[in-house]
Amino acid sequence: MEKIDSGIEGFDKLLYGGIPKGRAYLVSGEPGTGKTIFSLQYLLHGISLGEKCVYISIDEKPEHVIMDAEALGWNITPFLESGALQIIDVTQYFATSDTKGSGIDVNKVIDLILSYVKNNGVSRLAIDPVAPLIFSDADFPNVVEYIRKLIFSVENNTGCTTLMTSYVPVGSEKVSSVGIEEFACSGIITLKLVKLNNKRIRTIGIRKMRGTRIDLTEYSFEILPDRGVVLRQPI
Ligand SMILES: Nc1ncnc2c1ncn2[C@@H]1O[C@H](COP(=O)(O)OP(=O)(O)OP(=O)(O)O)[C@@H](O)[C@H]1O
Ligand SMILES: [Mg+2]
Repeated sequence: MEKIDSGIEGFDKLLYGGIPKGRAYLVSGEPGTGKTIFSLQYLLHGISLGEKCVYISIDEKPEHVIMDAEALGWNITPFLESGALQIIDVTQYFATSDTKGSGIDVNKVIDLILSYVKNNGVSRLAIDPVAPLIFSDADFPNVVEYIRKLIFSVENNTGCTTLMTSYVPVGSEKVSSVGIEEFACSGIITLKLVKLNNKRIRTIGIRKMRGTRIDLTEYSFEILPDRGVVLRQPI
């Protein structure tokens, strides 16, 4: 099993050496838990290793992603210019929450993304977040089938390792919005904000990771300038 470095300080030891290559993983968490920063950090590490990376922005305009990265001390503009990093803006397709009624063919959007990734030798992909690509208003058996197909095509046709972020409602114990993504994907990383001695701390844990041994302990982490997500001690 070939593994890749996540680029997240202190994280790969929880995976006994890194993320199994070529599969799709869910990065799940409530709003503000660090999903976007985690994903960008993963891509930027790939770039530092000479890899080509793609970030699919669904909730945020690329300008905002660039600005927020800059605020953290990450200047991604040179990578966008060199083509090492590509931000694909699909926010326009999801301007309305009702993608079913708006005439958008989400399948086409996905096909476009995947053919770009395949034809350009992209090895790291982040879809942030994945939920809008899922027809949550379709009937249940179709959603199950659709998600399996989506994850299957991301894992099988692209040759790259994918992070898909998934937001969960505040206070919920769920790890995904539809409740099927977690079964279909190859692994789940959960980010949380928990109360400990009257202080809120950030925690990270691995719920599942096919094909590798994992440390199930939850760790506290910080989000620091330049370094991004940095793991601290077990909690
Ligand atoms: N420049 C910065 N310096 C320090 N901490 C920051 C900085 N930028 C963001 N953060 C912290 O990271 C948190 C947000 O991280 P991020 O945007 O990755 O969360 P998210 O899980 O993607 O949120 P959402 O669900 O809203 O998309 C912020 O709430 C803030 O606490
Ligand atoms: Mg985000």
